[in-house]
Amino acid sequence: MNHFLDIHTTDAKDLRSIIDTAQAMKTARNGRPKGTKDDDQPLAGRMVALIFEKPSTRTRISFDVGVRQMGGETMVLSGADMQLGHGETIADTARVLSRYVDLIMIRTFEEATLLEMAEYADVPVINGLTNRTHPCQIMADVMTFEEHRGPIADKKVVWSGDGNNVFASFAHAAGQFGFDLTFTGPETLDPEPAWFEYCAGKGRPITVQRDPVKAVTDADLVVTDTWVSMHDPQSARERRHNQLRPYQVNEALMKHAKDDALFMHCLPAHRDDEATSAVMDGPHSVIFDEAENRLHAQKAVMRYCLGV
Ligand code: CP
Ligand code: NVA
Repeated sequence: MNHFLDIHTTDAKDLRSIIDTAQAMKTARNGRPKGTKDDDQPLAGRMVALIFEKPSTRTRISFDVGVRQMGGETMVLSGADMQLGHGETIADTARVLSRYVDLIMIRTFEEATLLEMAEYADVPVINGLTNRTHPCQIMADVMTFEEHRGPIADKKVVWSGDGNNVFASFAHAAGQFGFDLTFTGPETLDPEPAWFEYCAGKGRPITVQRDPVKAVTDADLVVTDTWVSMHDPQSARERRHNQLRPYQVNEALMKHAKDDALFMHCLPAHRDDEATSAVMDGPHSVIFDEAENRLHAQKAVMRYCLGV
């Protein structure tokens, strides 16, 4: 049994195998209707709990559809409706759920909740986003890059904006898949020091460049995310917007990237804040391929977790 808690805590060989499996499963479906099952049914007879303590469109639907395509069944649960949201401990919840289901995916606030769930569950636990990381998203992003441009190793990836949870998983992927990561954003919203140390230790130190034009120059991939994450206080909204406005990804900025550079955003986006609609709907953008690949990448993650 394997948990999938983060990219930096998963073996690099397993990460590569997950991406390859995801691509093979996507190809095998060859555009067939979404509601049809895969030829292989590795999750037949399996029950998957999908727990959400925060809103979700992509994670919720892609996990649910992915389980069904592989022959399993799902229970989509809101943390607030469970006793978990009313004082039952995470450890007890994990032990009880393990008696009913074969796999748990949880989207939560504190990373400690995810780790405690994994510690006490007898079944695999998947990180569907915490305040600190979002590994499933970046597995889909690596898959999407490679689908369009081949191996991501040694490519220049530039993150413009908030050094948040999605950035953190990009930093982990830089270390594990071996690409160069540049961060451009205000110092007040720098990523955690731990991620700088992690990447430096992997021989892929993160470059910090406060000037977005210099940062994006010759990029193979430009990425951004919302300026205010779900766990950020709404009271910080105006301050964050003021700090991050110079880091908006717009057509003028994208001109400095390579001609064939890709643009990614995990979505949901606040159009014309962190990225303009001209970029999101423009020739560099692969945002909807990214969203689709959540489905394929997570199907491969679930197979890895269950060893099927
Ligand atoms: N990108 C992502 O995780 O989207 P949702 O919040 O809609 O799940
Ligand atoms: N950084 C965002 C990602 C949403 C998918 C958040 O945590 O709200």
